[in-house]
Amino acid sequence: MKLVKLLANLGYGSRKEADRLIRSGTVTDRAGNVLGAKDFPGLENILVAGEELDPLAPLVLVMNKPTGFTCSTEDPGDTVYDLLPPRFSKRNPGMNPVGRLDKDTTGMLLMADDGKFLHQVIHPKSGCLKVYHAELDRPLQGNEGEVFGSGELQLENDVKPLLAAGFEALGEKEALVTLHEGRYHQVRRMFAAVGNHVLGLKRISIGGLKLPEELAEGEWRIVSEAEKAVLFGK
Ligand code: URA
Repeated sequence: MKLVKLLANLGYGSRKEADRLIRSGTVTDRAGNVLGAKDFPGLENILVAGEELDPLAPLVLVMNKPTGFTCSTEDPGDTVYDLLPPRFSKRNPGMNPVGRLDKDTTGMLLMADDGKFLHQVIHPKSGCLKVYHAELDRPLQGNEGEVFGSGELQLENDVKPLLAAGFEALGEKEALVTLHEGRYHQVRRMFAAVGNHVLGLKRISIGGLKLPEELAEGEWRIVSEAEKAVLFGK
């Protein structure tokens, strides 16, 4: 692949901008030699402004999403893309959230440029469970496990009942909910259906992978191949 095309695909700019970047001497090898458009010393040996190149596709990121950020660029206001370097929004193929979180939900969000991976994570049949920690307005009533696990809970405006979900009470007003699917505002609507109200919601794991402890809210990092295997329980 040509250096210009590589830089453009990784979102460092349009082809014209990437060409300009190369001409300006910003792209070097590890020894500090300025690279020209026709040079290609190998991916690991290319630096842009002294920084290593972002990985090629397929790329998967994990983020600790804060409240107040939406997962869609179509919504007004701050989006999770604002928490990544601007070039990530210009990558080809593009990065997409893998199962959205509401604006007010925090925690584990995966972003990927790999449609197959995205499908494997979000499809209910893949068995990739999502676990949410919910803080509630009112005390639990004791029937939540039965109702959520019944496979018969029908939420307003949904065509089909929910798949059976896992439930674990952690305290009077605190619980874990495990979902196979990801319907609109699902956990909030489930608690509303049993007369409660979610005050705080955080996704703490997806499949076998937990939200990395070292990630403060708003921080992200690349998911390794080994972590992808853990995610799918391999
Ligand atoms: N359930 C919700 O209510 N919101 C989310 O963001 C995810 C699951």
